[in-house]
Amino acid sequence: MNTQLLMATARALVAADKGLLAMDESNPTCNKRFAKLGIPQTEEARRAYRELIITTPGLGESISGAILHDETIRQQKRDGTPFLKVITDAGIIPGIKVDTGAKDLSGHPGEKITEGLDGLRDRLKEYFQMGARFAKWRAVITVGEGLPSRSGLEANAHALARYAALCQEAGLVPIVEPEVLMEGEHTLERCRKVTEEALRNVFIQLNCQRVMLEGIILKPNMVLPGLACPQQASVEEVADATVNCLLRTVPAAVPGIAFLSGGQSAELASVRLNAMNVRFKSRAPWALAFSFARAIQQPALEIWQGQEANVLTAQQALIHRARCNQAARRGEYTAAMEKS
Ligand code: 13P
Repeated sequence: MNTQLLMATARALVAADKGLLAMDESNPTCNKRFAKLGIPQTEEARRAYRELIITTPGLGESISGAILHDETIRQQKRDGTPFLKVITDAGIIPGIKVDTGAKDLSGHPGEKITEGLDGLRDRLKEYFQMGARFAKWRAVITVGEGLPSRSGLEANAHALARYAALCQEAGLVPIVEPEVLMEGEHTLERCRKVTEEALRNVFIQLNCQRVMLEGIILKPNMVLPGLACPQQASVEEVADATVNCLLRTVPAAVPGIAFLSGGQSAELASVRLNAMNVRFKSRAPWALAFSFARAIQQPALEIWQGQEANVLTAQQALIHRARCNQAARRGEYTAAMEKS
């Protein structure tokens, strides 16, 4: 295992005040988002949209790494330049989503298990040769009556750890993503408990599989009340519940925590990340960063609408969100940034 490379990549992904841009939506997910806006659900539309994202001027000043889908990592700009060249020329580290999706977990109604371990070693080797330096695998945890089950948490943590070990063997930093979903009526406290249990399981399994913690990035959910919970939480409550949960469960050897946005509005994701850094940056042992998909892309996608004429305005919206989150990493994000 190339520990020096892994540690250097992991540190670079959360260096200074930058963060990750997740743009690895599966084709069905991407198509669903396109359909809502009347954008054609074709490979060419997905390619054009991803070209818009990666050619955004100045993107590398706030984005350290971009997570790509298998389709995207093999694509080119309209002028023939490979996407991988565009990304690396922008100073952005290319990453790749390697799970093959969350499927029903047998014998566990309402729970999912993420697949993709079979043949993973060979796929990772190919992605490394192509130039990818990190990978992503997302486990999905649903909160509900009697959910998640202990065995569901264990199965997902085990798969994440097997994936992480294979990534490190191949020289790729694993982004370890156990996502506790926002759907449901559960309280903030219940989300905290489930997230804590999920993370505990993940770090037990990472240890069992001999994963080097200095060479991973954790990508957790923020601790939030369920979308249908009547009692919503303040920004400060979310920041405290989230970081206190992480302080109890995530070893200090982990260089960075890069949150997913999970369907929060773009502004809320920035406000909450900012509050975490304002309140904890000076004493947290790891970087508190971002790895957002929707909270960076959604405003840009809504402006683009599949129209060439809207590309520049969409790119401005994208870079604006990237910069807001960069400011949030420093604890310097303000509502005034949204008006400028
Ligand atoms: P969201 O920020 O939209 O939750 O996406 C992050 C991600 O990569 C999900 O796997």
